[in-house]
Amino acid sequence: VSGRPQQAWRPRQAPPERIEVGAMVIRRYTVDDAATLHHAITSSVEHLRPFMPWIADEPRSLDDRRALIAAWDAQWRDRSDFVMGVFDTDQLVASTGLHPRRGAGVLEIGYWVRVDRIGHGIATRVVSAIATAATQMSDVASLEIHHDLANHASRRVAEKAGFVLVGEYDSQRSSPGDTGRSLCWERPSP
Ligand SMILES: CC(C)(COP(=O)(O)OP(=O)(O)OC[C@H]1O[C@@H](n2cnc3c(N)ncnc32)[C@H](O)[C@@H]1OP(=O)(O)O)[C@@H](O)C(=O)NCCC(=O)NCCS
Repeated sequence: VSGRPQQAWRPRQAPPERIEVGAMVIRRYTVDDAATLHHAITSSVEHLRPFMPWIADEPRSLDDRRALIAAWDAQWRDRSDFVMGVFDTDQLVASTGLHPRRGAGVLEIGYWVRVDRIGHGIATRVVSAIATAATQMSDVASLEIHHDLANHASRRVAEKAGFVLVGEYDSQRSSPGDTGRSLCWERPSP
């Protein structure tokens, strides 16, 4: 196991457009979600800073968010990346993604939760649901979660969502909380 990105691979099919998790919905972003995404991130910047490398690009404007959502849409269409919002009615409470960057047949799951919604099991439920959906994609052999050794909350999410620890490796320190050692967790397709 290593943190190095592997060769580009694109699954033959995209994940489902919409996954229901209790009262929440996991779905693709649309440009109309820019305002709720903006609010979720701007209110959570210090919570996200330790382990989310892209926070270095904050603050972003509402127009930047719209452009990002348009870029995610293009990636979804060419199956190079799948970024999704988690909505409670029309409010964004979390974000997740399936990233084909760990080699053929592997999707990496990413996630973050809006600061005022942490500690209620949202990440665990979202990861479990998206993992179940992803294992139904025909050419997906396994799902992985990667996180820095210091990210104890992320570790609990992986454990509670039924992932198995498969390795520890030297990783880039790309966020202020990173130690430079990461864990890899796996959930094989049934
Ligand atoms: C990691 C994160 C997504 C968890 O979201 P969440 O909705 O609060 O997660 P859950 O409620 O499902 O579970 C969190 C678990 O971590 C535990 N936890 C939280 N902070 C912790 C800490 N500092 N040390 C140890 N455990 C911790 C919680 O107690 C809970 O475990 P429990 O159910 O056994 O009590 C959220 O904290 C977050 O957005 N972090 C910043 C972004 C991030 O690091 N994403 C992951 C990148 S790999």
